[in-house]
Amino acid sequence: MNVREEVADLVGHIKRQLINRQEIGLDAPFLSTNSVNYLKEGPQMGVAPLGENLYFNSLKELEDFLSNCERCRLAKERKNIVFGEGLADARIVFVGEAPGMEEDFSGRPFVGPAGKLLTDIIKAMGLTREEVYICNIVKCRPPGNRDPEPDEMGMCLPFLKAQISLIKPEIICTLGRIPAQGLVDKGFKITRDRGQWHYLIGIPLMPTYHPAYLLRYPQAKRHVWEDMQEIMKELGLSDPRGLRD
Ligand code: URA
Repeated sequence: MNVREEVADLVGHIKRQLINRQEIGLDAPFLSTNSVNYLKEGPQMGVAPLGENLYFNSLKELEDFLSNCERCRLAKERKNIVFGEGLADARIVFVGEAPGMEEDFSGRPFVGPAGKLLTDIIKAMGLTREEVYICNIVKCRPPGNRDPEPDEMGMCLPFLKAQISLIKPEIICTLGRIPAQGLVDKGFKITRDRGQWHYLIGIPLMPTYHPAYLLRYPQAKRHVWEDMQEIMKELGLSDPRGLRD
């Protein structure tokens, strides 16, 4: 890396940290007008601030805080909030789109057919479901399994970030277009942009296809496996067997 690249990398890193502080409702340090304008170019989703005095010491505290959440319209028809599950200090967090019918009934993420395939992907990486953390960009089921709206994702985002900040994973992996559009860029196109490293609150983020897509198009499994290999390289995991079509 030459000096110019190093400075660009450093500025990018600082920018991401400052955007994150802003989004979770913390005061930014004193910034010039130019810097404030620069930060305003970040993701714009109408994010709800957590409030100045809201700090969570554990995932349990955060889950309890959200137990009767009615911040957005998804509260009306949900049966259960699907907070997320897994190891509290997992090395990797998978972020899906939204709970479906089975998840809404059980209160657990990825328990249907797509969840079974996600569990197989995790196993193929040499890990178990219990060793990772699995959640969604929104914690309540959108009626009829429609896509979550940007304002619904914006309401839930500070809590996802608080959750990730507590877990402190080494890697985040988003599944499908919706969480990548919410966490990386509104214009994210999954076929064009998957498989490239991004950052969320300073944590490397790898976007890949959603397992439900793989159930419809098994030929895309090889791309997911390429993305998982990138992640495994970062985590220092070996490549035992791969994902079969
Ligand atoms: N699809 C998702 O994106 N999340 C779930 O929890 C289940 C299915």
